[in-house]
Amino acid sequence: MRVCKEGPSSGLLLFLFIGLSSVWQCFARDVKAKPTILLLVNASMGRPIPETFFGIFFEEINHAGAGGLWAELVSNRGFEAGGPNTPSNIDPWSIIGDESSLVVSTDRSSCFERNKVALKMDVLCDSQGDNKCPDGGVGVYNSGFWGMNIEEGKTYKVVLYVRSSGSIHVSVSLMGSSGTPTLAAANIIASASDVSNWTKMEVLLQAKESNTNSSLRLTTTNKGVIWFDQVSAMPLDTYKGHGFRTDLVEMLEDIKPQFLRFPGGCFVEGEWLRNAFRWKETVGPWEERPGHFGDVWNYWTDDGLGYFEYLQLAEDLKTRPIWVFNNGISHNDEVDTSVVSPFVQEALDSIEFARGDPNSKWGSLRAGMGHPEPFDLRYVAIGNEDCDKKNYLGNYLKFHSAIKSAYPDIKIISNCDGSSQPLDHPADFYDFHIYKPANVLFSKAHKFDNASRAGPKAFVSEYAVTGEDAGNGNLLAGLAEAGFLIGLEKNSDVVALISYAPLFVNSNDRRWNPDAIVFDSSRLYGTPSYWVQWFFAESSGATLLNAKIHGKSSSSLLASAITWTNSEDKKTYIKIKIVNFGSRSVNLRICIRRLIRHSIRKSGSTKTVLTSANLMDENSFAEPRKYMILANAMQVVPIQSPLENAGKRMDVVILPYSFTSFNLLKKSTSI
Ligand code: AHR
Repeated sequence: MRVCKEGPSSGLLLFLFIGLSSVWQCFARDVKAKPTILLLVNASMGRPIPETFFGIFFEEINHAGAGGLWAELVSNRGFEAGGPNTPSNIDPWSIIGDESSLVVSTDRSSCFERNKVALKMDVLCDSQGDNKCPDGGVGVYNSGFWGMNIEEGKTYKVVLYVRSSGSIHVSVSLMGSSGTPTLAAANIIASASDVSNWTKMEVLLQAKESNTNSSLRLTTTNKGVIWFDQVSAMPLDTYKGHGFRTDLVEMLEDIKPQFLRFPGGCFVEGEWLRNAFRWKETVGPWEERPGHFGDVWNYWTDDGLGYFEYLQLAEDLKTRPIWVFNNGISHNDEVDTSVVSPFVQEALDSIEFARGDPNSKWGSLRAGMGHPEPFDLRYVAIGNEDCDKKNYLGNYLKFHSAIKSAYPDIKIISNCDGSSQPLDHPADFYDFHIYKPANVLFSKAHKFDNASRAGPKAFVSEYAVTGEDAGNGNLLAGLAEAGFLIGLEKNSDVVALISYAPLFVNSNDRRWNPDAIVFDSSRLYGTPSYWVQWFFAESSGATLLNAKIHGKSSSSLLASAITWTNSEDKKTYIKIKIVNFGSRSVNLRICIRRLIRHSIRKSGSTKTVLTSANLMDENSFAEPRKYMILANAMQVVPIQSPLENAGKRMDVVILPYSFTSFNLLKKSTSI
């Protein structure tokens, strides 16, 4: 076997001495050693990993936002999802009552100019007389996104717009599946004069019990005609009070993202431009947003999660927003470069909205939404996966020159791959997407080894194992991704940003498989791909150390090493990550060179392993999401343990099909 032996890499005698002595120590121990493979880490030679390195990509796909991260409980709150023509489909609203007691329809009488459709309830029954309304009344209900999660003790704010020719007495209630008790209720009672015009009503409902499959009901026992529009139900308890589902955002916090790329993906492009994400339609008062049908992932969004909210989310996560906008190109139609300038203006306006003065046209809209300070927008991507489209280059150049002249500091990301050949246009970064079977992605760990070091750096904004190998998110996929990420970390001089895709899936609407975080109305878990990302949470801004594997059969083994400082306790660690993509365990000797003796503390050093009995194992809702506590659980989660043999030389066993990190606590002056 190779031992801890390598040629001197520094002219400094002291380093040479320390280096040789560490080689000797490794060598001396080798006499009766079992390890056949050596990992040599040089603690004195490092280079910085970009601060931006590890981030997240949020796309409105799989109901990631509507019915997911965005905590709005009502689906199709403005009755616009069935299209602008009436009568229209009001799905998922349903009717309580029959035709003898109630006729429900839609018309275009809303007070909101951009979303004219309203719901009309013609109540035929009454509180008394021949046609008496059933107990509990008649009306409509909305189960949200596959059932609302209502939690005991929590308060929900219901806002709705109502109009009637007479007085009204409407019960607003939250109820579990049929036959279960009412969870919370309040009445809206108003005279005819109060509601003869559209009137906004608000009620707070505090839940007496919990039910994960609830619905919002609007019922009455009084004859008359009532119109409803823009019906919203939001929990008061959201992340930082900004409308995001706390449990989902906390999973993002845990992996310490340094950027948030949003809102797509293909969602930005649309199958057709008329269905693309257009930011101006998603800002301002929520009631006035028209919503839109995302025709790539085939579902309606009310756009409560709009451009402003994405910027807010980035700020709340203390991360950098990366705004991907449409460049006049969809999957099936393209705006010619000669007439693309209105799209360019739209992009410029979006930047003004994010960072303009509160007195500017678009900055004032942002200020009016409660954010007078600018958002810290410094990165934009011109389109998504459009490089090979006919008008991409022409359009790109128009956007590029307009943005650079108005906002010279903004970094611009091109859709064209600069890893194999230089770009033929100016850019600060080039976008790189890769979805492959497990073996292929693992081998792509070396993809950037020979990429040009001149010119723009790579933004690997979408990567994942897909297809049969991935199942619904299994260990095999996670390990291949771990290998790929180790390769990217080692090439972080040319790969400046990385993010997995897609981030979220509502298990009721898997449009894309696999994904990092799976949820339904009340539960969530991370797939192995999520947990692999968790291992890289400390990489951004860390120092990459030279780490090299020596020995036979090491092709299924990849390793990297960093030093990083914990911002909370200010302690410094050496973190060594090793993926074993082979079916045999590996006896490995780790030698850290250029580190003085006894400079690693045993106490405070840990080993963390992600593995499972079966390579195809997946996670499920059955267990909680936290790592470490599930030593005997059937979940593929990282298990952490103290590292008793922590030191500059360690003989360790790396399990088959596993991802392991050794986090070694350093004494303060140890190099
Ligand atoms: O991540 C899913 C999709 O994959 C994205 O929308 C698109 O950019 C890519 O093709």
